Amino acid sequence: MRRLLSLAFAFAVAACTSGTGNDQNAAAEARGPREVAPILTGADARDTQTYARPEVARVTRVALDLDADFANRRMAGTATLDIQAAQGAHEIILDSRGLEIEAVTDAAGQPLQYALGANDAAKGQPLTIRFGEGAAPTQVRIRYRSAPDAEALQWLTPQQTAGGRHPYLFSQGQAILNRTWIPTQDSPGIRQTWEARITAPEPMKVVMSGERLTPEGEDAGNRRRAYRFRMDHPVAPYLIAIAAGDIAFRELGPRTGVWTEPAMLDRAAAELADTERMVEAAERLNGPYRWGRYDVIVLPPSFPYGGMENPTLTFLTPTFLAGDRSLNGLVAHELAHSWSGNLVTNATWPDRWLNEGFTSYFENRIMEALYGRQRAAQEEALSFAEIEKALVELGADAPGTRLRDDSGAESSGIVYDKGAAFLRTIERTVGRARFDAYLTSYFDRHAFQPMTTARFLSDLRANLIRGDAALEQRLQLDRWAYQPGLPDNVARPDPAAFAAVDRALAAYNAGGDVGAVPYSGWTTAERLRFLNGLPREMPAERLAALDRAFNLTASGNSETLFAWLQLALANRYPPAVPAVERFLAGQGRRKFVLPLFETLWGAEDWGRPIARRIYVRTRPSYHSVTSGAVDRLLGAQGRQAP
Ligand code: BES
Ligand code: ZN
Repeated sequence: MRRLLSLAFAFAVAACTSGTGNDQNAAAEARGPREVAPILTGADARDTQTYARPEVARVTRVALDLDADFANRRMAGTATLDIQAAQGAHEIILDSRGLEIEAVTDAAGQPLQYALGANDAAKGQPLTIRFGEGAAPTQVRIRYRSAPDAEALQWLTPQQTAGGRHPYLFSQGQAILNRTWIPTQDSPGIRQTWEARITAPEPMKVVMSGERLTPEGEDAGNRRRAYRFRMDHPVAPYLIAIAAGDIAFRELGPRTGVWTEPAMLDRAAAELADTERMVEAAERLNGPYRWGRYDVIVLPPSFPYGGMENPTLTFLTPTFLAGDRSLNGLVAHELAHSWSGNLVTNATWPDRWLNEGFTSYFENRIMEALYGRQRAAQEEALSFAEIEKALVELGADAPGTRLRDDSGAESSGIVYDKGAAFLRTIERTVGRARFDAYLTSYFDRHAFQPMTTARFLSDLRANLIRGDAALEQRLQLDRWAYQPGLPDNVARPDPAAFAAVDRALAAYNAGGDVGAVPYSGWTTAERLRFLNGLPREMPAERLAALDRAFNLTASGNSETLFAWLQLALANRYPPAVPAVERFLAGQGRRKFVLPLFETLWGAEDWGRPIARRIYVRTRPSYHSVTSGAVDRLLGAQGRQAP
């Protein structure tokens, strides 16, 4: 043990010789982008969700050469890993889940011994590769294929696409799903550069979250084309992503564009018309955009999230297409992750608020820059209402309301909304100009590095608070970061943001007539404020009158439709059931699907048979992220026909 520790120490030092802070950035730039990213060694940076022991041996670059085999739903080929091992290390441990390993060799093709360990339901299996005699190899090559049910990958049938003629594939890596298709050290603190060569059958096009080297693809024989990609900035491995299908591209601006199925291109481009301006606004806030292009892909409706910030290529749900850009805060959000998340990355998942809270704060700043204070204030107020709701539902002392959350619980909204409120509180305490300058320097000083809550707080103290004891006391940093509930210095939203809606709501809730509610003239945020402010128990006639007056069931806006359907189901309102079924069959975003099933499930005698009936039909179309969550809710019985 002593020996191992001293090895670990020697290696940690070697990996960090470039030091931290400004000098390191300057040095990294001078030496080019292939600089190996340092690994944090503190106890708070230890990732319990990986088998990797980076202090012994770590991956620095991944080179994939894979065929997308649609017929068998497998990615098959090789992963060649550049590795750095501490002196005396005799093995490297990778993460793997469901991978079928065929061979492991060094770069020269000499076989290396390997073993797959016991399977853990969450972490998967460790893949341990032994180095043999002599010095550790600098590369290992793994020949493997992913399992047909790999959780990161969704293989869609042609019927699940808009075009209906070709299959489709997309991946979702966050948080620890990429180990189901890439054998590497799947930890956000172990940054890796990567490259890939992917072959796919014509006329499928392949895109990935890095620089595209072969826009048209090269002939790979057998009516297949090969696409090559490269990412020379070290990224957290959850950010390696792929999509393949019958997709087309349209430019949005000089460095922005959209990929989607041809049938979706016009709608998508119109909704995304402000993307280039968003990048410009984000740069004014956070400093230069460091990833080259910012493209997005609008995926088929089974994409389980609103969006995913894959570098150079944000993945988006089509449910944000509202026709009026009212849900494009999603794009601002994923774009903002280009700084908070992709440039400076949570070292481990309990620190995910560093990704999501910062990003939600910047999302709102970008929205303000583009659309003005009013829209931003309204969206801030909606976010604040979510915190208050969570505090009521979970309890103000509940561990799940802490920002740094090592409870292992499913990602909750708290890290987004309370995280944003924390940064907003600092902003309003020190003043915007000073906070903006601090944040820009923060991204610059920690670019391409992992971050922990403790490191962020000490950085704040060193560079913003600078020994001002009164300021330190006013900010309550540790309370915000580590305690449940909401500190009393929280910056509250402007009560004027929804003054008119709240008046109309109060009058309506006091028994007023629906005719007095000016819903049609409201923004999406105002409509959501209204719908979410209605009592959860309402007589059927009043629900019917609301629906008739505002055409709620026919809404083409997924957020207002969702808010309405939740209200209707909570009231066991039968006329809403066909619309619920259509919505649950038409898209697979977990944020919409899970709560609707929860509401049905909660309405026991009435809702459970409905939930079972719908789920039997819709489950096969969902991504594992969504079906896994609903499976846990409904239990085994829920998956069988009533
Ligand atoms: N990175 C997240 C998506 C994610 C979170 C994937 C947790 C896996 C685990 C993404 O940036 C995100 O937060 N998406 C939100 C949209 C946003 C506007 C709040 C979503 O999917 O709804
Ligand atoms: Zn996010």
